[in-house]
Amino acid sequence: MAQHPIIELFQCAGQAHVFAFFDRLSAVEQKQLLADAAEVDLAEVAQLYRSLVAKSEGAVGVNLAGLAPAPYEKRPEYGGDAAAWAQAKAAGELALRGGRVAAFTVAGGQGTRLGYDGPKGTFPVTPLKRKSLFQVFAEKIRAAGLRYGRPLHWFIMTSHANHAATETFFAEHACFGLDPARVHFFRQGRMPAVSLDGKILLETTGSLALSPDGHGGSLRALGRSGALDLMQREGIDTLSYFQVDNPLVRCIDPAFIGWHVLRGSEMTSKMVPKAYAEEKVGHFCSQGGKSVVVEYSDLPMAMQLETDANGLLRYIAGSIAIHVLDREFVRRMAAGGDGATLPFHRADKKIPTVDAAGVAVKPEKANGVKFEMFVFDALPFAKNPVVIETLRADDFSPVKNADGLDSPQTCRDDQLRQFARWLTANGANVATDSSGRPSFAVEVSPLFGYDEDSFADAWRKLSPKPAVVDGLYVA
Ligand code: UTP
Repeated sequence: MAQHPIIELFQCAGQAHVFAFFDRLSAVEQKQLLADAAEVDLAEVAQLYRSLVAKSEGAVGVNLAGLAPAPYEKRPEYGGDAAAWAQAKAAGELALRGGRVAAFTVAGGQGTRLGYDGPKGTFPVTPLKRKSLFQVFAEKIRAAGLRYGRPLHWFIMTSHANHAATETFFAEHACFGLDPARVHFFRQGRMPAVSLDGKILLETTGSLALSPDGHGGSLRALGRSGALDLMQREGIDTLSYFQVDNPLVRCIDPAFIGWHVLRGSEMTSKMVPKAYAEEKVGHFCSQGGKSVVVEYSDLPMAMQLETDANGLLRYIAGSIAIHVLDREFVRRMAAGGDGATLPFHRADKKIPTVDAAGVAVKPEKANGVKFEMFVFDALPFAKNPVVIETLRADDFSPVKNADGLDSPQTCRDDQLRQFARWLTANGANVATDSSGRPSFAVEVSPLFGYDEDSFADAWRKLSPKPAVVDGLYVA
């Protein structure tokens, strides 16, 4: 009997082992394995193996020639131009009122460090009401739509593993009050893991070890899913990009959007000054007239520690994975013409697989390599990139780990500090410790106020004001 053409392609590419157990599989399993295999771009895998795995012995690191710190727009309170910030805010508000902006969340990660069973966006994160990450974003997006008189579209990138559970979660919660016609889910792409000698790994005898292609895969996925065409039809040209793990993020920040619009930027990013020299964040840099993000692991420690004439860190601008993207820029990157494609990075992992007899193996040490793209690698391809400063306390407190740094506890504390700051700034009497954290639980619904401006407006109108006591929920 003639071989299936996909099996022949795998044989020609030196990947025949993928079908070693094919004859033992049921018809359904065979179909599944063929479907997995059809997702794989064999030429891409071979090229990635050659460039990232086979050649990695003695590989040269990132090219540091001509690297300098990237310029950024300082906040007015730190010496930035207050009039320019006010202009940016007005321009962003205009874009929002004009319906030009959509929210975009990347939620396809595996969330292994948190070790939570379920899509990360369903994780309960707020201090009092235990609202999920998705609910917090949904309410901020809904409130911004009401504030600017134009309900926003929200694009959510999922993975194959969490797509169905994510959609079900939204359906069970009636889309948190958003119009379901404006909430769009689409899956990101997958990449096969390979062994250290370039063989595509099987997860079981009837399936490949496929994993999400990184948050950078969002650019391709936006194109492939038809999301960009939908935006075009709706008159949306600006995407506010944020990650699923950060409930503090200003999902819709008019000044940020305004800087992007006024500068004709294709990609605008937020920086925070690094908390200390060795903080593990990417660094915004310039190189050869382009903007780049250099990961902390690629920036020599001497450069991370370098200070200027005033004793301040030279490489101060830390990346917090918040961007504004131009729709047509994403389309260009998704199409990948003219060399405008994101590079893949390798990550060595312990990948459950099967041995030569088809028996399941749980490796004790890294036995293979996964390939991922990072969205910040789009920066050098963007025209007129802009980096603006933001306040960490108002934009960034991710939930990455189960305990310790960037955990549910640190994030809860940062939310409490933010609510306490908003209340205090508007005349309420809130007792806090020296870090600004109230000693009791308090929560503000994003539907009441989702940033200091919207909170101040709503608080002013509130009469009578509630007593600030343990368990206060401002809604
Ligand atoms: P992280 O780099 O924190 O990875 O993702 P992760 O997979 O969520 O968590 P760990 O490393 O397994 O613990 C940062 C953001 O990028 C998204 C995540 O959902 C999160 O919002 N992401 C990451 C994707 O959407 N797809 C990916 O392939 C990877």
